[in-house]
Amino acid sequence: MLYKKRLMTPGPTDVPPSVLAEAAKPIMHHRTPQFRKILTEVVASLKRVFQTEGDLLIYPAAGTGGMEAAVVNLCSPGDHVLVASCGNFGNRWTEIAKAYGVQSEHYEVEWGQPVDPAEIQKRLAADPSIKVVFTTLSETSTGIESDIRAIGEIVAKTPAVLVVDAISGLGAIPLKTDAWKADVVIAGAQKGLMIPPGLALISISAKAWETAKNAKCPKYYFSWEKAQKAMKAEALADTPYTPSISLIIQLAESLRLIEAEGLEAVWERHARLAKATQAAMQALGLKLFAPKQASNAVTAVWVPEGVDVSKLFKTIRDVYGITLATGQGKVKGKIFRIGHLGYADDWDVVATVAAVERALLEQKYAMTVGSGVAAAEKVLFGI
Ligand SMILES: Cc1ncc(COP(=O)(O)O)c(C=O)c1O
Repeated sequence: MLYKKRLMTPGPTDVPPSVLAEAAKPIMHHRTPQFRKILTEVVASLKRVFQTEGDLLIYPAAGTGGMEAAVVNLCSPGDHVLVASCGNFGNRWTEIAKAYGVQSEHYEVEWGQPVDPAEIQKRLAADPSIKVVFTTLSETSTGIESDIRAIGEIVAKTPAVLVVDAISGLGAIPLKTDAWKADVVIAGAQKGLMIPPGLALISISAKAWETAKNAKCPKYYFSWEKAQKAMKAEALADTPYTPSISLIIQLAESLRLIEAEGLEAVWERHARLAKATQAAMQALGLKLFAPKQASNAVTAVWVPEGVDVSKLFKTIRDVYGITLATGQGKVKGKIFRIGHLGYADDWDVVATVAAVERALLEQKYAMTVGSGVAAAEKVLFGI
């Protein structure tokens, strides 16, 4: 049987056909006015999506490269920083800090719970030397959304800068960079921005630039100063090294799609898909891993007793064509995750829920066939 392939993972995500088509165009030279005009427009559009009037840099890199860039441009070896983590990706901040000899105070909540802004406030008060607070907008490993607005209010009252990993959140979940006082925001290409992997996008506030002036961690490729100089040297944006030309051209198209739909409408679509997925899983008798502050980008679900998750995952992918994500780190084998992120619509969710039902049925899991689909449709269509 032929089934359409669907990437219902929290990244990489499916790419819209018009964005895919852009990659087939002949390569433009990056030092031409034609390409630099596209880059300039991409930066302007990205700033609207980030909701910032701060600076914006683009690196050919995985999202983790953007995270590392934030550490090396803001910190010196021996500096104190606070990491507020609610999962695997939050923990990555501490791993990167360690690699550069930066002293990370590691505040990690029980997985499945959100970080508590009050605890961040307490820790900042206890150690006024903390220079940077690192956290995550949408913790992809657990399906949690952090309250960046509340954290931003707290951090803004201190000399510390707030760095937000929005790699799986930007373009899916509300994030108002300037209004919420997020000094540095990092996004990835392959999630809400709906292009293939390979770009890290970073917004930088004036406060963050001040902190960056004294940062002594070694850096060359990831130097913000060098990248910023190229961006701002002339009227048209430029990059110090060869950019990912095709990815930027694809990003121009995906940003056109996002802005045509409207950012608020994009956020609402993600909220609606998340709500439908959550309702469907609960109707099937499955337990949500993150019942509080669930992310609109990804739904994490406990694997029920008696169900072989790797078999479930393989049936859904290899028989029904839909790729989901399994658990990471300490919840490996205990949860599975459904991404409803980027180029995803109502029918993707309905098809995914139906495939989960079929795969559970195969394992003789007790449920009413169709109850998940009905619950999803009730949220999506009101009946
Ligand atoms: C929240 C979050 N942070 C960081 C990363 C790492 O991104 P990359 O794999 O592009 O380095 C991911 C990727 O899944 C993510 O979801």
